Parts: sequence; C-alpha cells; structure tokens
Amino acid sequence: MSIVVTGATGHLGRHVVEQLLEKVPADRITAVVRDEAKAADLAARGVRLAVADYNAPETFDSVFAAGDKVLLISGNEFDKGRPAQHQVVIDAAKAAGVALLAYTSAPGALSAALADDHRTTEQALLASGLPYTLLRNGWYHENYTENLAPVLEHDAVVAAAGEGRVSSASRADYAAAAVAVLTGEGHENKTYELGGDEAWSLAEYAAELSRQTGREIAYNSVSTEVLTGILTGAGLPGPFAAILAGVDASIEKGELVVSSGDLSRLAGRPTTPLSEAITAALKA
Ligand SMILES: NC(=O)c1ccc[n+]([C@@H]2O[C@H](COP(=O)([O-])OP(=O)(O)OC[C@H]3O[C@@H](n4cnc5c(N)ncnc54)[C@H](OP(=O)(O)O)[C@@H]3O)[C@@H](O)[C@H]2O)c1
Repeated sequence: MSIVVTGATGHLGRHVVEQLLEKVPADRITAVVRDEAKAADLAARGVRLAVADYNAPETFDSVFAAGDKVLLISGNEFDKGRPAQHQVVIDAAKAAGVALLAYTSAPGALSAALADDHRTTEQALLASGLPYTLLRNGWYHENYTENLAPVLEHDAVVAAAGEGRVSSASRADYAAAAVAVLTGEGHENKTYELGGDEAWSLAEYAAELSRQTGREIAYNSVSTEVLTGILTGAGLPGPFAAILAGVDASIEKGELVVSSGDLSRLAGRPTTPLSEAITAALKA
C-alpha cells in the first residue's frame, strides 16, 4: 500500500511530501509529477516517482494500486478544463481499487467562479463510489504574503473585499491536515471545512503590515471592476483577473470565513497566525 500524492512538485504537494516523510518510510510514498527532474531531490531520498499528466489519461494507467491512499491535488491549468483533468485521476483510482481518494477542494460556502471546478470534481468523486475525503481548503496566507512587492512599493493593500474577513492559513497547515487524513484512520467519506483559527480583514492585514514594517500601509478598498482593471493592467489575463476579483467579492460576503475548527483539529495544533507568515515573508 502506497500513499500517492499528485501535484507533488507544486507548493502544497512539496509540503505534503515533506510532512509525510516525517511519518512514513520514503518507499511508501509515491510522488506523481510531470517533470521527473523537478523531483530529483525526492527520488534521492527514496520517494517513488510516477510521471503522469492530468491531460494524458494513459499516463495514469499504472500509477495506482489496490489499497493505495491517494491525495489528488487540484490542478492549476484553469483554461484546460480542470474537472476533466481531475476525472482522469478519479477514473484511474477507481480502476485500481484504491482505499481512499482525498481531494483538495474549496470551502462549501464559496460561490465565486473559482469554486465551480471544485464542485464538479466533488460530484464526480462522490459518483465514483470510491471512499473519499473532501479537504475543502480555505484561502492560503501565501496568496497575500507572496505578493508583497506591489504593496510595499505603493504602501497600499488594494482589494475589493470591503470589510469582509478571511480565515486563511499557511500551505503547511493544509498539508498537515492532508497528511493526517492520509496516515490516519476513519476519514472515509468525510468532508472537512478547513481554514485558519483566526479571521482577519484586509484593513487589519494592512495594519499588521504597518506595525511590522514601521511604515504607513493603507487599505484601499475598491470595486471588483476597478480591481480587475488593476490586475489586467499589471499583466494578468482578463479572465484570471476577473476570477481573483470574484474571490474578493466572496470575501466581502464572508464566504471565506471557516469556523469549523477542522484544520487545527486535524493538524493537532493551532494554525499559523497571519502575523507569523508576514514576518517570515518580510525576512525572505
Ligand atoms: N486555497 C488556496 O488559497 C489556493 C490558492 C491557489 C491555488 N489553489 C489550488 O490548490 C492547488 C495546490 O496549490 P499549490 O499552491 O500547490 O499550487 P501550485 O504550486 O500551482 O501546484 C499545482 C500542482 O499541480 C500540478 N499540475 C498542474 N497541471 C497538471 C497536469 N496537467 N498534470 C499533472 N499535474 C499538474 C503542478 O505540476 P508541476 O509541478 O509540474 O507544475 C503542480 O505540482 C492549486 O493547483 C489550485 O488548484 C488553492
């Protein structure tokens, strides 16, 4: 029986594999990657590699075996039809008879267009009859802390989230929840709503940035139309800019506040505070 992780060379996948290595022998872990060279370090540590692409169903033919526990990390090719890509993995897992297929989804309350692919994939997974776990990941701290350059350049956080709050957590926190599910028992056919222990507003984010940098960083609350224009002006493709602005509209409506406590419960510890993630990002 292997623990198989797709998207293993992505940001979240790397955290998952690292945390798995602390709990299980390396030869029980299979990292599914598109580019073997990107995972050479993992292979050197004894992790098994499988090369497969969501766009090529045949590449998944021999990736899974009966009894495996699989983490399907949702793809990032928004323009290529992610539900069909995820279906490829579900079909291969079903054909092999895996013991569990866990999927990194989005909060159940999220109405933004971004969530459509996740809802479709959840339905496909339930229809497959496979034992499943829905890891409905909330927003990452890193969505903000990896994008500090324009904030520090203009001394302004620009967003279309109004006074809405978001309970983000670090990728490492979401990885810990996934690892708990993959290495623990009793997670079959469960849905976890995952988010950070604390919810914060964009104004509070700007205030924390001001405190840590010693500068006056303002929160400029704009409309989704204005934000879409700013993002396209910065070079983002129009449809992607609209998707991101749509997430801010969801934050304003409170759809990214997750108060289930599932994340810290599964991780077995409190989630990473946003202030800590900011400190780390400012040092980097
Ligand atoms: N909750 C949030 O705040 C949030 C934010 C952004 C994204 N997400 C979702 O969560 C996922 C994981 O987050 P992340 O930060 O780890 O994203 P990421 O770093 O972009 O990783 C995406 C992973 O998916 C793999 N992938 C993409 N297309 C593939 C294909 N056709 N076949 C096989 N593998 C493919 C990538 O492979 P390569 O390594 O070869 O590129 C990569 O490993 C994202 O893909 C996205 O669906 C969530």
